Amino acid sequence: MERWIQLRRYELLGSSEETDTGDAPQVRLGKWLALRRVRTILCVGVLLLAVTTSIHFIDASTISRAVHHATSESLPTNTTESTAKTNDQVNWSDYAYVQYVTNENYLCNSLMILESLHRLKSKADRIMMYPKEWQLAGSSPTAASNHLIQARDQYHTKLIPITVQHSTKGDPTWQDSFTKLLAFNQTQYKRLISLDSDATHMDELFLTPLGSSPVAMPRAYWLDQPFLSSQIILLAPSATEWGRVQRFIDQKDSGFDMDILNTLYRDSCIVLPHRPYNLITAEFRAGAGNHAKYLGSEEARWNASAVLNEAKFVHFSDWPLPKPWIKAADGVVAETVPKCTGGQNGEGMECADRDVWMGLYRDFSERRQRVCGRHYDKGRARRRDVESDKGAERMNV
Ligand SMILES: *[C@@H]1O[C@H](CO)[C@@H](O)[C@H](O)[C@H]1NC(C)=O
Ligand SMILES: *[C@@H]1O[C@H](CO)[C@@H](O)[C@H](O)[C@H]1NC(C)=O
Ligand SMILES: *[C@@H]1O[C@H](CO)[C@@H](O)[C@H](O)[C@H]1NC(C)=O
Ligand SMILES: *[C@@H]1O[C@H](CO)[C@@H](O)[C@H](O)[C@H]1NC(C)=O
Repeated sequence: MERWIQLRRYELLGSSEETDTGDAPQVRLGKWLALRRVRTILCVGVLLLAVTTSIHFIDASTISRAVHHATSESLPTNTTESTAKTNDQVNWSDYAYVQYVTNENYLCNSLMILESLHRLKSKADRIMMYPKEWQLAGSSPTAASNHLIQARDQYHTKLIPITVQHSTKGDPTWQDSFTKLLAFNQTQYKRLISLDSDATHMDELFLTPLGSSPVAMPRAYWLDQPFLSSQIILLAPSATEWGRVQRFIDQKDSGFDMDILNTLYRDSCIVLPHRPYNLITAEFRAGAGNHAKYLGSEEARWNASAVLNEAKFVHFSDWPLPKPWIKAADGVVAETVPKCTGGQNGEGMECADRDVWMGLYRDFSERRQRVCGRHYDKGRARRRDVESDKGAERMNV
């Protein structure tokens, strides 16, 4: 238990549910990079195995496309035709992306995810679980109700009123995190994907063969293994699974949502390839030679823009830099930004990591303003912070 609480602190690096106080976890980037080398990704093997023992309706090519992302540049992939065929056989209303919100602070994050899925023309449904006490209509609409209505009307999201699953134990930041697990109770769907962060749409994941496992998650590849990341979960809701999960929620010492999922499923869950389904922004700061955990081998070559292009899910996690919707303290951005390498006197410097990293933050900031409104964006102040730093002034942010 103690170990998990410790790991939970790590996960502060990796969860979208950040406190607004910007509390820094007592964990250093260097430390997780120094952790013992993980085994190469098992998930590719798991997926291939899953394909061979596959459930009938699954078209293997859909999976091989995921595997392609996860392994090398050289697998053959003309999947256009067969994927289209698969998609025709699928009833997309059986599948949904699920978001939940327990307070107004995080509503904008969910809204951004829903907007992305809508814009990228994801075929599956979108649902948003929100506290049943919130008024959708009324004489004086709040910012929250306006955003819920925006999700419903602009991004075609089904709104589902729920009872927030609140716990009085532990850190207040996580007390409402059990609410995420209510996804297991949305039995009107065959499968759900829960996303904590921005993602390109990943409809193909709904077709992952689950076999007898009710969930599939990627590893928190930056941690000591085995440890599953609950930033993205593919799950098959059912009364049985919800019952199991609920018993843990009610139990005093079961930890938080991520701990419960690890307790229940660590040994049985289908492991999704973290590449391309779980990338954290700190990866771009790790520096040359430190990417084996993400890439899956010591030999694979790091190419920041290629990694970003293949990634389907990117999570902002750059301690000591706070989440991108929180203003960073003076100087922290300049201190955190990936350094250019090589070259002399600014000539021939290699800045790909920095450019990609800055691009992610810039994109987040722009979308946040566009989707939620100008005052939701703290990135502008952040950019000034960067520009005022001498070492970073060449950056075109
Ligand atoms: C893949 O197959 C589709 C459908 O047969 C075809 O239109 C497309 O040109 C092919 N793409 C490549 C790269 O061969
Ligand atoms: C798809 O699934 C939904 C919900 O289960 C159902 O109402 C609908 O009739 C199905 N559509 C088709 C074409 O089977
Ligand atoms: C779970 O779903 C059932 C059926 O929709 C509902 O009656 C029940 O209130 C839900 N439980 C919780 C805790 O939301
Ligand atoms: C990195 O990958 C991109 C494609 O995403 C490619 O255009 C570029 O040439 C690659 N850079 C190196 C140094 O291999």
